[in-house]
Amino acid sequence: MRSSYAGLVSEKLMGQTVTLMGWAHRRRDHGGVIFIDLRDREGIVQIVCDPDRADMFKTAEGVRNEFCLKVTGLVRARPSGTENAGLVSGKVEVLCHALEVLNPSVTPPFQLDDENLSETTRLTHRVLDLRRPQMQKNLMLRYRVAMEVRKFLDANGFVDIETPMLTKSTPEGARDYLVPSRVHDGHFFALPQSPQLFKQLLMVAGFDRYYQITKCFRDEDLRADRQPEFTQIDIETSFMGEEEIRAMFEGMIRTVFRHAIGVDLPVYPVMTYAEAMFKYGSDKPDLRVKLQFTELTEVMKDVDFKVFSTPAQSKGGRVVALRVPGGAEMSRGEIDGYTEFVKIYGAKGLAWIKVNDAGKGRDGLQSPIVKNLHDGAIAEIIARTGACNGDLIFFGADKAKVVNDAIGALRIKVGHSEFGKKLGLFEDKWAPLWVVDFPMFEHDEEEGRWNAVHHPFTAPKDGHEDLMDTDPGACIAKAYDMVLNGWELGGGSVRIHRAEVQSKVFSALNINKEDAQVKFGFLLDALQYGAPPHGGLAFGLDRLVTLMTKAESIRDVIAFPKTQRAQCLLTGAPSLVDEKQLRELHIRLRNATIAAQG
Ligand code: AMO
Ligand code: AMP
Repeated sequence: MRSSYAGLVSEKLMGQTVTLMGWAHRRRDHGGVIFIDLRDREGIVQIVCDPDRADMFKTAEGVRNEFCLKVTGLVRARPSGTENAGLVSGKVEVLCHALEVLNPSVTPPFQLDDENLSETTRLTHRVLDLRRPQMQKNLMLRYRVAMEVRKFLDANGFVDIETPMLTKSTPEGARDYLVPSRVHDGHFFALPQSPQLFKQLLMVAGFDRYYQITKCFRDEDLRADRQPEFTQIDIETSFMGEEEIRAMFEGMIRTVFRHAIGVDLPVYPVMTYAEAMFKYGSDKPDLRVKLQFTELTEVMKDVDFKVFSTPAQSKGGRVVALRVPGGAEMSRGEIDGYTEFVKIYGAKGLAWIKVNDAGKGRDGLQSPIVKNLHDGAIAEIIARTGACNGDLIFFGADKAKVVNDAIGALRIKVGHSEFGKKLGLFEDKWAPLWVVDFPMFEHDEEEGRWNAVHHPFTAPKDGHEDLMDTDPGACIAKAYDMVLNGWELGGGSVRIHRAEVQSKVFSALNINKEDAQVKFGFLLDALQYGAPPHGGLAFGLDRLVTLMTKAESIRDVIAFPKTQRAQCLLTGAPSLVDEKQLRELHIRLRNATIAAQG
């Protein structure tokens, strides 16, 4: 057995003989002396192999990268001047007495310390990629975070109860992953998008406080912060209100940050959804970026410039400015780049004004649009944005959603750019907040109907019940999201526990009684048996750890993730299956070519 982890050998073990097991991270032959950096999950220690032990030395000569080794030797101080402050073991080395190759390795397809590997290479050879110190750190931290969460929840009386993976479609709004039933011809299970309905059932069943760290499955378009299969810290409690739930789980995340990475998060500001959209065009604002929208819809109603006046006058239109202090230094090329960028979000253009000399009125401004604006409008723009000499003002004018998406994304893009950082528009800090008072419903223009913003079991604010009939758009939900550095880390709501309120929601959503019964009958039935008031939330564990490690992608904190195209490059999943399997499942493929390959 080993006596210590290689990475933990330090001056505390000075003069002792240790036995270590690990991998040859690097071998250096210094003519006469061979150095092996021995690596295990805790880190690296330098092994010194002297030729005076001939057998051992011969073995050392044959060692190559990634051989699995057993080393016995004496811990001694490194010669002065050769210490490495970056390692726990940096002051010491191990003088090798015995060396055994537990297993050689073929030549790895890449150097483990190569920082420029493509993600395809990394995911294809994930085992070797996971050997890299950074990946070991990430996954160890993930474990630490999960443990801290469990400790906190356990101490607060939450119990871990498992819920089914083979189940019915759940209402989180993404596409389901389906699993065909062999026993029931033509029937399918859905993998859960979340344990939402089951955790509510557990409240009705009287468990009072539930949690689960569990997989959820959503077949949606993938991005840096999304996986088709991801992990939620899923929580539900009875008899707690919105504010109590928020306070408790702000406390949980604060405790986890302190214990797992030694960070004290600031107290969370609480911002309404309406304010977040008004100021940042986003329900998950990144508060590290110091830029804000200026509302100009009213001001632009009477200008001659149709690009602004048309959306300003139309229902659901919005015109905003984004003032970039110091931004007048921006080149035309950069502005053109941002104009292309906002088009991704549906914007038709990106008007701008450089403020060279605010005192000179329109003559002090450089812009393709001031010629279209009357003096009053120009004065209002300058006054409302508070623009000073040297500033740049961007404009968005369109349907509110397009403006919010485009100028919201522009705000982040400019704030995070090198230029933005140089101008001090980005503050490197932890910026958490709660976003509260979400609307109950959003209108789907194409379908001409209302959809639930959170899910159909979310309770309306007290006193908002009747709005569901009269003005669904004005109805506010008891729903909340926790946002950190511009990422939605978690979200939840107080649920409906009374059947009559639930019916109103279904009718607002145009779900008739029969449909409701087919889809959610088991929940509606349970609610009739004295269901307690309850609520909860779920955090994305992958996102939490990604933020803590400052990794670029959620894939860096998941051992075996899927690519952007929802594939596992390591195993080759998803893959074709043979005809016999399909037959047993009563499935015939539509695409004849693929069917033939199977
Ligand atoms: P929601 O859908 O907001 O709520 O999900 C909760 C949290 O899960 C994380 N998350 C994801 N992480 C990675 N990849 C994904 N595809 C993905 N989708 C969601 C996010 C998100 O905040 N049942 C409700 C919770 C509740 O009401 O209690 C739910 O699932 O961090
Ligand atoms: P145009 O008159 O269409 O050439 O546009 C004049 C300026 O307004 C250009 O700088 C465009 O990029 C900008 N612009 C056009 N449409 C919009 C819009 N919907 N929102 C903001 N700026 C726009």
